[in-house]
Amino acid sequence: MLLHLDASARRAASFSRKLSAVYADTWRASNPGRPYVYRDLAAQPVPHIGEAWTELCDYILEHEITDISRYQEAVRTPAQRQAWSVVQPLLDEVVAADVILIGTPMYNYSIPSALKAWLDQITFPKMSLEGRSFVVTGARGGAYGPGTPREPYDHEERYLRDFFRGHFRVSDVTFIHAELVNSRLDPALAHLREQHEQSLSAALKEATR
Ligand SMILES: Cc1cc2nc3c(=O)[nH]c(=O)nc-3n(C[C@H](O)[C@H](O)[C@H](O)COP(=O)(O)O)c2cc1C
Repeated sequence: MLLHLDASARRAASFSRKLSAVYADTWRASNPGRPYVYRDLAAQPVPHIGEAWTELCDYILEHEITDISRYQEAVRTPAQRQAWSVVQPLLDEVVAADVILIGTPMYNYSIPSALKAWLDQITFPKMSLEGRSFVVTGARGGAYGPGTPREPYDHEERYLRDFFRGHFRVSDVTFIHAELVNSRLDPALAHLREQHEQSLSAALKEATR
């Protein structure tokens, strides 16, 4: 199954959505009949975790529950049942997925809070998603590639890569970025427009491949 998430606050003008759509269309064309689930984290935001969620998490840690199918044993109160009713469908989608595709912008050197809220809801201690792969199609206003002055400021790819590998134990992670998107708007970056166009067309090609 392909689980496709988008997190940009932009709709039609979003580059991360365009890239994730191209990837999803290609995947679906090459995997006819295989399930596909779409979730728009910006249009239908996942709530932030609350106190009852932390109680579920604490119970799972304390009782050394590592099997995701046993997490619901942690539900003991009405508030926890309510918290679990948010987690369960999100987690079911992740567990069922072979590929988790995330279209996300860089916001303030990191990921949008809409994506972080989803990540917080579905993440529990010592949890493994081994056997799955993550594909992140991203868009950012600047350039953060190797050797660029802003390379150390990229807390988007680094954070997601570290998190997927370190916490979920998934190393099959692919990042496809369209960079320098701000050159389309910011007169001070107009001279980088050509570089942006190249980055965008390489990203679209890679998403199709
Ligand atoms: C709230 C906000 C914060 C942003 N922060 C950054 C940033 O830290 N670095 C950057 O390069 N671009 C930043 N940008 C520019 C976006 O990454 C860029 O517009 C990108 O294309 C957004 O993805 P989208 O086209 O899918 O909406 C920011 C844009 C917004 C709206």
